[in-house]
Amino acid sequence: MPPAVIALDGPSGSGKSSTARGVATRLGLAYLDTGAMYRAMTWAVLERGVDVEDAAAVAAAAADVVIVSGTDPQAPTIEADGVDVSGPIRSQRVTDAVSQVSRVPEVRQRLVDLQRDIIAASDGIVLEGRDIGTVVAPDAPLKLYLVADTAARAARRAAEEGRSEAAHVEATAASLQRRDAIDSSRTASPLAKAADALELDTTHLTLDEVVDEVVRLAAKAVPDL
Ligand code: DC
Repeated sequence: MPPAVIALDGPSGSGKSSTARGVATRLGLAYLDTGAMYRAMTWAVLERGVDVEDAAAVAAAAADVVIVSGTDPQAPTIEADGVDVSGPIRSQRVTDAVSQVSRVPEVRQRLVDLQRDIIAASDGIVLEGRDIGTVVAPDAPLKLYLVADTAARAARRAAEEGRSEAAHVEATAASLQRRDAIDSSRTASPLAKAADALELDTTHLTLDEVVDEVVRLAAKAVPDL
C-alpha cells in the first residue's frame, strides 16, 4: 500500500507549518516543509551570484544543487550543497527572491521529484506547500487548504520574528501579499486549492484547535493511521 499522505496547502502565514508539524507529531508521521526546499534552492542560486529574474540562468544553476531535507517533525533539517541552511533560508534576502526562483519549471520539476522520493521512502507523511494536493500528491486521501485574513497572517509572522511593532506588521503584510500574487499567478503549478481539498479558515482558531480538527479529519479520511 502506498504511504498515507496528508497534504496541507495555502498561502504564506496561513498556519501550515505549525499545523503540519503538530499533526505529524500527534500521528507519528514524517513531515516535509516543501517551502524550505524552495528557499534552500533560492539560497544556493543566490550564493552562485545568479540574477533570479533570469529564468534560464536560475534553471542552469539549480541543476546541480543538492538539497537534503530531514523529516522529523520535532527537528526538521534542511541542507543545500552540504551546508545547514535552516537559518539563512529565513533571511529577508531569500524571502524576497524565493517566488522568482519557484516560478522556474526546471526548479519545480527537480524539487517535485525529490518530494515524491521522500514520500515513497516514508511510512506516512504530512507535506506542506502550495501544490501538494494539486501536483505533488494528487492521490492524497486528505487534502487541506488553509486560509487566514492577511492581517492575521502578518501578525503571526511578525510575532514569530519577535517584532510586533505596527510598521513591521504592515511591511510583513505587504511582503505576504506580494508573494501570494506571484505564487498564485505563475504558469507552473500555481498556488491553488485542489478541487477535492477541504478549506479551513484559521483566522479565529488557535493552533491547538487547528491541529485537533486536522487530526479528526485524518481519522475519518485515513482510517489506517
Ligand atoms: O511556505 P514558505 O513561505 O516558506 O514558501 C516559500 C516560497 O516557496 C513561497 O513563496 C512559494 C514557494 N513554494 C512553492 O512554490 N511551492 C511549494 N510547494 C512550497 C513553496
